[in-house]
Amino acid sequence: MALSFDFTNMMAGVLPHDAGITEREWHDAAATFTRAHTAVHARTADLGFLTLATSEALLASSLTVAERVNGRFDDVLLLGIGGSALGPIALRTALCPPRWNELTAAQRGGRPRLHVLDNVDPATIGSTLDRLDLTRTLVLVVSKSGGTVETMAQYLIVRDALAQAVGEEAARDHLVLVTDPEVGALRRIARDEGIAAVEIPANVGGRFSVLSPVGILPAALIGIDVRALLAGAAHITAQAQGAELAGNLPGAFAVLQWLADTRHGRSVQVLMPYADPLRDLALWFVQLWAESLGKIRPDGTSVGPTPLPALGATDQHSQVQLFMEGPQDKTVTFVAVKGRTNDGRIPARHADIPELGYLGGHTLGELIDIEQRATAGALAARGRFNATIHVDRIDAWHLGALMQLFALATAYAGELYGVNAFDQPGVELGKQFAYAMLGRAGSEAARSEWDALPKPNPRYMITPGV
Ligand code: PA5
Repeated sequence: MALSFDFTNMMAGVLPHDAGITEREWHDAAATFTRAHTAVHARTADLGFLTLATSEALLASSLTVAERVNGRFDDVLLLGIGGSALGPIALRTALCPPRWNELTAAQRGGRPRLHVLDNVDPATIGSTLDRLDLTRTLVLVVSKSGGTVETMAQYLIVRDALAQAVGEEAARDHLVLVTDPEVGALRRIARDEGIAAVEIPANVGGRFSVLSPVGILPAALIGIDVRALLAGAAHITAQAQGAELAGNLPGAFAVLQWLADTRHGRSVQVLMPYADPLRDLALWFVQLWAESLGKIRPDGTSVGPTPLPALGATDQHSQVQLFMEGPQDKTVTFVAVKGRTNDGRIPARHADIPELGYLGGHTLGELIDIEQRATAGALAARGRFNATIHVDRIDAWHLGALMQLFALATAYAGELYGVNAFDQPGVELGKQFAYAMLGRAGSEAARSEWDALPKPNPRYMITPGV
C-alpha cells in the first residue's frame, strides 16, 4: 500500500521557457509552511476532521446502525447536498463495482443500492421516487446544520412518500438522521419523534465530513471496507505530523499549488485522475478546494484558486487542448494508478493495419497509464505545470489516504492564503435572498435588499420569436 507525489514537472529547470517554481521559492516556502502547519495542528481540538479516522466511538455509531438494518433494505436513499452528498457519491463510485445500482442483489452481495439526491430538481427526485420500492428503502437524511433548504425540501417530500407507502408509524423506522449532536431542525425532529440519529461531531464541517458518519454510514451499508478507508486516512494524518515541507505530502501539494497561483499566475488547478472510479473524487475535491479557499481576506483582497475536474484519458479529447495551448494559468495534478482490475490484453487482431497493429498485446491498463505519462510529458515539454499522485491501486485504504491528503492540504492552503478554510460566508447572501422569496420568517432585511436590486432590463434581453 503506497501513495507518492511526483512534482518534478512543477519545477524551474525542468520546465522550459523559465517556467516553474524556483528552488528559491520552494526553499523560502518551507518556513511559511512550518507556520501554516503549526497553526493547523494547534487547532486539533477545533478541527475535528484531523481525528475522524481514529475515533472508534464514531465508527461504532455508524457500524451499529449498519448492523441493525442489515438485510432489511434493497435501497438506501441519501438526502443531502454539498459536503453531505459529494463524499458519499465519491466513495460509491470509487469503491463499488461500476454501475453498482444496476447490478442484481446477488451481484451486490446482498448489499443495497445507494441513491444520492444532491439537488432539488423535481425531474430527478420524481423519477427516483417512482423507481424505488419505499417499503424496502432506508432513507438517510444528512445535514450537519440540520436545516439546509434543499435537504429539508427533499426530506419533506420523501417523508410524505414514505408515510404513504408504509404508514406514519413505520416510516420512522425507515429514517436515520445524520446531523449535529445538538443543534438544527433534524436534531429536534429526532428528539421529538424518537427517530434514529447518528452524530456528525460538532467540530466537523460539511466538506471535511466524509470520514464521519456522513460518508462512513452509507459506505458501511453498501459493504465498503470502512476500517481500511479510515486506516488510509490515519496513515496520511500520521505522516503529516512533521512540519518539514519536504516530508509532508499534503503540505507539498498545498505549497506548490499556492506558489503556482500566487507567484506564477496558475490560478486554475485541475485534478485529473486517470481512472473512471476516481471521476467523482475530482468533483468532491472541487467543492473542498473552492468553498474553502475562495475568500475575502481580512485586508479586503479576494483570493482563491479555481479548481477544475477532468478525467483521463477521456479529457484528452476535450480539455487537454486548452491545458496545452490555452492561457498559462493552470496546474494539472494527475492521479495515476499502478494496479488495475480486469486488465485484459488487447487482442492482436488486424496486425497488418498500422492504426491497430501496434495495440495488440498491450493491456488497457498499460494504455491508460502510458497516456497519462505522455500527457504529463507533453504538458511539461510546453512549460505547463503538472504533478502526479501515484497510488498502487484503487481500494478503500488508498481512497481514505487520498481524501485525507486533500483535506489536510486544504487546511494548510487556508493558512497560506490567509483565509479561514472552514467557513463559507459567500454563500449566505444567495441563501437569504432565496429565503426571502420563499417567505421564511426573519428574512425581511434580505427581502428589502432583493427588492432594491435592478430588475431584468428588456434592452438587455433577447427572445427570438418562433
Ligand atoms: O461544506 C460545507 O459546509 C457545505 O457545502 C455544506 O456541506 C452544505 O451546505 C450542506 O450543509 P449541511 O450539511 O449543513 O446540510
